[in-house]
Amino acid sequence: MTLKRSFKLGNLVLPSNIFYAPLAGCSDYPFRKMSSFYKPGLQFCEMVKMDALVRYDKGTFQMLDFDPDMHPMGAQLCGSKVEFAGQAAKMLEDMGFDVIDLNCGCPVDKVTSDGSGSGLLKNPKKIGDLIANMVAKVKVPVTVKIRAGWDESNLVAPEITQIAEQAGAQAITIHGRTRVQGYRGPAKWGWIRECREVAKSIKIIGNGDLFSASDVERMFDEVGCDAVLIARGTLGNPWICEDVYRHFEKKDPIIRTLEERRQALKRHFEITTAYQNDKRSLTDMRRVGCWYVNKTSGSKEFRQKISHATSIDEVRDLILNFPLGDWIEEPVSEENCECG
Ligand SMILES: Cc1cc2nc3c(=O)[nH]c(=O)nc-3n(C[C@H](O)[C@H](O)[C@H](O)COP(=O)(O)O)c2cc1C
Repeated sequence: MTLKRSFKLGNLVLPSNIFYAPLAGCSDYPFRKMSSFYKPGLQFCEMVKMDALVRYDKGTFQMLDFDPDMHPMGAQLCGSKVEFAGQAAKMLEDMGFDVIDLNCGCPVDKVTSDGSGSGLLKNPKKIGDLIANMVAKVKVPVTVKIRAGWDESNLVAPEITQIAEQAGAQAITIHGRTRVQGYRGPAKWGWIRECREVAKSIKIIGNGDLFSASDVERMFDEVGCDAVLIARGTLGNPWICEDVYRHFEKKDPIIRTLEERRQALKRHFEITTAYQNDKRSLTDMRRVGCWYVNKTSGSKEFRQKISHATSIDEVRDLILNFPLGDWIEEPVSEENCECG
């Protein structure tokens, strides 16, 4: 498998098989607007709770905002109540989403304690019931995103791949880590390949540790997945799909200068301030600012300053004028990025 510039998911034709992940607290409207300029094959909103959606929670609807020029757009449901799954999926379809995904990977205790998110990995049959309920209610493709298993003694991903296929899911994303692992250690792509081996018609989407075009190429080669889903690698790199396209099309890579990164951050800031009130924009830019400059020698000081900024004008001035220093290539780490 390799890059495809036309990729079928059920009846839906996507412009590529390079997707951007749902990222709670990160893949909000401004993030998705920035991403859409570079044309990923599909991008997702952060997950929303099915219970909140069916009771018409206002904040949940705001998390699902998008413009017509941001398609193809996926939404992701988190929850474990079979009776809500189909109803919530139908609401998302009516809002215009192109794909609806079921979250079976969220590791947060508050989510898993009621059997949702990666809690569902302990109950593969329930995953099938949830998917079947969603598939019965919508015409758009239904997909599911899982981790390899709850822990290394319970690697249920191949079993869930088969269950999801039988329940009518068009694709399954496998994050090559367990729930117990959280985000520690490298993702094991071999666990994704095991799902590839049992899949008949369901598409396999590989996920975990994709930070560059060459990582994507390596995952296609090693796993044979149909598509890839890039997560943390999109933070501060809304153009990563463009890098991947150019890499596979043997075009010269685009070198993103520090000044271009600064301009991209400025654009992200402008989208944010046009969308959010000032108070919310201030807190959002603390997170977003660090994504774009976390590999510069001035990033620590920049982060401190942006965290203490008390007005939008102060943030704008920092973005436009702060001396960022030199570009230093070092791995993304939790110290470097609040969003980890
Ligand atoms: C801050 C953050 C928020 C996330 N939110 C979601 C989410 O809403 N839904 C989901 O399925 N996965 C979520 N994930 C998991 C990612 O989509 C992805 O599976 C994981 O980060 C592994 O990919 P990576 O190693 O390329 O980052 C989140 C991850 C992070 C770091």
